[in-house]
Amino acid sequence: MHHERIAILDYGSQYTRLITRRLRELGAFGLVYGPGATAAEIGGPDLKGVILSGGPNSVLEAGAPDADPGIFELGVPVLGICYGQQLMARNFGGELRRSAKREYGKATITCDGGGSMLFKGMAGDQVVWMSHGDHVEQAPEGYAVTARTEGVPVAAMEDGARRRYGIQFHPEVTHTVHGNALLLNFLEHCGMELNWNAGHFIEEKVARIREQVGDGKVVLGLSGGVDSSVAALLLHRAIGKQLTCVFVDHGLMRKDEMKQVQATFAPFDLQVVWVDASDEFLDKLEGVTDPEAKRKIIGATFIDVFDREAKKTGADFLGQGTTYPDVIESSGIGGAVLVKSHHNVGGLPERMKLKLVEPLRELFKDEVRAAGLALGLPEEMNARHPFPGPGLAVRLPGAITRERVRILQNADAVFLEELKASGWYAKTSQAFAVLLPVQTVGIMGDERTYQFICAIRAVTSEDFMTADWARLPHELLDRIAQRIVREVKGINRVVFDITSKPPATIEYE
Ligand code: XMP
Repeated sequence: MHHERIAILDYGSQYTRLITRRLRELGAFGLVYGPGATAAEIGGPDLKGVILSGGPNSVLEAGAPDADPGIFELGVPVLGICYGQQLMARNFGGELRRSAKREYGKATITCDGGGSMLFKGMAGDQVVWMSHGDHVEQAPEGYAVTARTEGVPVAAMEDGARRRYGIQFHPEVTHTVHGNALLLNFLEHCGMELNWNAGHFIEEKVARIREQVGDGKVVLGLSGGVDSSVAALLLHRAIGKQLTCVFVDHGLMRKDEMKQVQATFAPFDLQVVWVDASDEFLDKLEGVTDPEAKRKIIGATFIDVFDREAKKTGADFLGQGTTYPDVIESSGIGGAVLVKSHHNVGGLPERMKLKLVEPLRELFKDEVRAAGLALGLPEEMNARHPFPGPGLAVRLPGAITRERVRILQNADAVFLEELKASGWYAKTSQAFAVLLPVQTVGIMGDERTYQFICAIRAVTSEDFMTADWARLPHELLDRIAQRIVREVKGINRVVFDITSKPPATIEYE
């Protein structure tokens, strides 16, 4: 039943995620495994090929991660990229050289189009992306050298008889001009069906969810965000009334948020418990100004409330909308430092002692959206910007009061309405209002005012790890500022945030 698969062994390169992404863009399904994965773990009738990724280590050092020799005996083609190639060269008797300095950036390779499998259809010089310290000086016996640069004598090598391939550069990085064509050559050589799409995914997942859950019950925290919404619809399609969703309003939602989510799911016949816990959250937050303290209170209270409601459903499983980037981030690959203690549902599975069902674990964000569309999630919900777990709390520096939440909700609603009307909502990745804990003097009619400053923030971003401020047109900014000051009681000044990330973060706390 499982879709044909390429196994990607991750040696720690920052580009591993991109390899998976490129494969899926080409219609192939790839799954990432740790560097220690054995042939038995990755093998199977659905396995069509193996890719060994790049990585920050040197194969010349003791203790550098290796590959299980059995992987080369699985009978499927193996492609080593950068570190992966060096590993193959070392293990099969080639010669490696430590470069005096790291080569990083674009380079031009001269390749032999001739009999090469990888470079089929790509004669002549190619621009590629290099990022490496060591390189292969001499290929192992049986390997033909198929590309070289001035400094790198073995930029690519192939042992066609054993179906082993190595490249020093990174085809997954867009700077490698023919990177996709090279990966496609490899996939075709593996005999992969190139038909991976959202429809396939849904059909296959529905079957797997039924198999996992049997006649058990599942409870899922529905936030109205894309991930939890798609997970809910997918689980619903698979197990219908065995699923109960719990929506917790923590009092820090956007204006009319619960009503909107209710309207969205009304046509789906989904069982949802709607919980208004805003007093419980806001009472606990009273007087708290420290950003981390706020986050901790919200996280802990969320778990309390959710646990209480979930118990009533008698569930055996906890459903979660965990996606592939979440998996990679929490596995610590890349070693990100803790800037903010993110509120997802960390701690929930441990506390509830439920088995997990995570049907989106293998998907990237755009694939989650494609699945959402195929499941009938309205375009408007599907194209929603992300909204952080702690909600407006991270957009209310200083003390959180019911009055300040209300002011912010109103300002935010005006801002989003204008963005949507002007077409800028779709052109930005995240946009929202922030209420600063600063009052300034203004004049309205003949009256002096002394009210809060509203900051508006709009960013574009690929992955939310970095972001650029969106260049909203001045006319639009003018209309937004005028409307907010006129329509939202409590605000008499609007400023536009023009800081990118880094050095600022997207949210204010
Ligand atoms: P920052 O502010 O760290 O945000 O630049 C990056 C992205 O993460 C979102 N964010 C959160 N999402 N729980 C979430 O689910 C959180 O606690 C949280 N904090 C920030 C933020 O909205 C942005 O998209």
